[in-house]
Amino acid sequence: MKFFIDTANLAQIKEANDLGILDGVTTNPSLMAKEGIKGHQAIMEHYVTICNMVDGPVSAEVFGTTFESIVEEGKKLAALHKNIVVKVPMIKEGIKAIKWFTDNGIQTNCTLVFSAGQAILAAKAGATYVSPFLGRIDDSGWDGVQLIEQIVGIYNSQGFMTEVLAASIRNPLHIVRCAEAGADVCTCPLSSILGLLKHPLTDLGLEQFLKDAKSME
Ligand code: E4P
Repeated sequence: MKFFIDTANLAQIKEANDLGILDGVTTNPSLMAKEGIKGHQAIMEHYVTICNMVDGPVSAEVFGTTFESIVEEGKKLAALHKNIVVKVPMIKEGIKAIKWFTDNGIQTNCTLVFSAGQAILAAKAGATYVSPFLGRIDDSGWDGVQLIEQIVGIYNSQGFMTEVLAASIRNPLHIVRCAEAGADVCTCPLSSILGLLKHPLTDLGLEQFLKDAKSME
């Protein structure tokens, strides 16, 4: 399973990248706004900065909701860097645009996916990635990982090439369960990635080893 970081924060991207386990980055308009980025030029420059930091796919989301505006924005985003993946919302116009991007060799990430039916449509349109938001499903009282399992099962049995990119990750256990479910990619906040490191028995064991090592000096 590939690890993407789900942020537009450059310090966090650097920290995850320095671990040596980062395969890519996803952003969305909320994450970009959180960084205080303002204006078209600054937004474009921020994507390029991220692309120059991480050697892997970087999802940049369109702001438009009509076929024409999504295609126009997506072409500009894709021209920024070879690693840009155009992130398109799961709406009727978005599906049409994903098909257009597929036919024109531009990689896409179909976002805001909450059902298997939506995931089938994204795959039919040729999306490179589909992003089911499992944390938001959990938040509303359903089991988000079940949706990941269902989509992985459908894509495998139907031979769809679209990669399942588990999104809206809230904790380290989500990452483990996505790996069990067969997700191709997990996009996570830095805190969830770092959370994977933690176990109290590791801390206790290391403390003892260091003490014993010192006693031999
Ligand atoms: C997906 O790519 C989105 O950026 C993200 O995972 C949404 O997560 P949230 O539900 O924590 O906002």
